Amino acid sequence: MMRAIRLRAPASLDNLISTDLADPGSPGPGEIRVRLAASSLNFHDYAVVAGLIPSADGRIPMSDGAGTVEAVGEGVTQFIPGDLVVSTFFPEWNDGAPPTSAFTGVPGDGIDGYARSAVVTPQHWFTRVPMGYSAAEAATLTCAGLTAWRALFVDGRTEPGSTVLVQGSGGVSVFALQFAKAAGARVIATSSSDEKLERLKALGADELVNYKAEPAWGAKAMALTDGRGVDTVVEIGGAGTLDQSMVAARVGGHVALIGVLAGFAGPVQTALLMAKNLRVQGLTVGSRQQQLAMIAGIEANGIRPVISDHFPLERLTDAFRHQIANAHFGKIVVDI
Ligand SMILES: NC(=O)c1ccc[n+]([C@@H]2O[C@H](COP(=O)([O-])OP(=O)(O)OC[C@H]3O[C@@H](n4cnc5c(N)ncnc54)[C@H](OP(=O)(O)O)[C@@H]3O)[C@@H](O)[C@H]2O)c1
Repeated sequence: MMRAIRLRAPASLDNLISTDLADPGSPGPGEIRVRLAASSLNFHDYAVVAGLIPSADGRIPMSDGAGTVEAVGEGVTQFIPGDLVVSTFFPEWNDGAPPTSAFTGVPGDGIDGYARSAVVTPQHWFTRVPMGYSAAEAATLTCAGLTAWRALFVDGRTEPGSTVLVQGSGGVSVFALQFAKAAGARVIATSSSDEKLERLKALGADELVNYKAEPAWGAKAMALTDGRGVDTVVEIGGAGTLDQSMVAARVGGHVALIGVLAGFAGPVQTALLMAKNLRVQGLTVGSRQQQLAMIAGIEANGIRPVISDHFPLERLTDAFRHQIANAHFGKIVVDI
């Protein structure tokens, strides 16, 4: 037997139940057995456990998982026992266009995730981790890390001299700040907290804007770029922030539409979108090949994730409460 957390119906933070689960056994052909050591919290995981996204009764939550390969099945070529590995968000999306099946195959959403101590999966559901990373560090990459990477370097064209605006100090945004700085970009960082802005500055943010004190932060970003606007906005608010993001963007700029923290739907200034020749591109995390490219980029630049908090798996509910109180900075890790 092994320990796991299951989400019981009706989904809510109070219905995350610690339970015993049958051991997954030995890996079959093409499979690996992974002893999971860490996961990390994403807003997406919260949306599942809070019932904002419907899921099955008994679902094991958490999309991110990292740990050590304990055994490999026949024909496994990518890993050997002892390798540290990290999960992929879309296990069957290797490369090319995004899957059309939305989140049906995503661990912790459409299928069981990694809030458990061991798992047996096809080898391609995991990748290697950056050299020198711990399992806790690796577990931050699956969702938040890869989303930031794709926004800046797959959908965006961030390069030395680019200007990037990041919103708030959560998982995606702090990775975006780190990646953008590593690429030689200038970063305008926003936060609701002056204390967190100082921490963003310590990570390399060039300009700081408190979006509560400065509700017209789009115009502020314009002013900070001498009226030119920013090349890419890492848009994690959604409906409630898109207007300001479009104001902040330069003519021909890019808004990476990632999140829903400030609303799921709302009116769009279509005339502004047109007049500024903007590209607003929605994205859902990334592919396995993009994850491998990110890992190479992390290694080349010596980037380490920012983890503000650790919780043991048995205190997953407390970890989510910490997250929705915005008490974190960067990532919250769950140690398994
Ligand atoms: N499309 C995708 O593939 C994808 C992937 C990952 C995440 N997401 C989405 O991206 C969003 C962020 O995810 P996450 O995991 O990074 O969340 P997170 O770590 O929980 O981030 C929370 C932080 O976001 C900031 N924030 C909240 N409301 C804001 C607002 N109105 N304006 C600016 N900043 C705001 C706050 O920063 P301060 O405390 O500093 O103000 C807050 O601490 C979520 O909506 C999530 O669903 C989407």
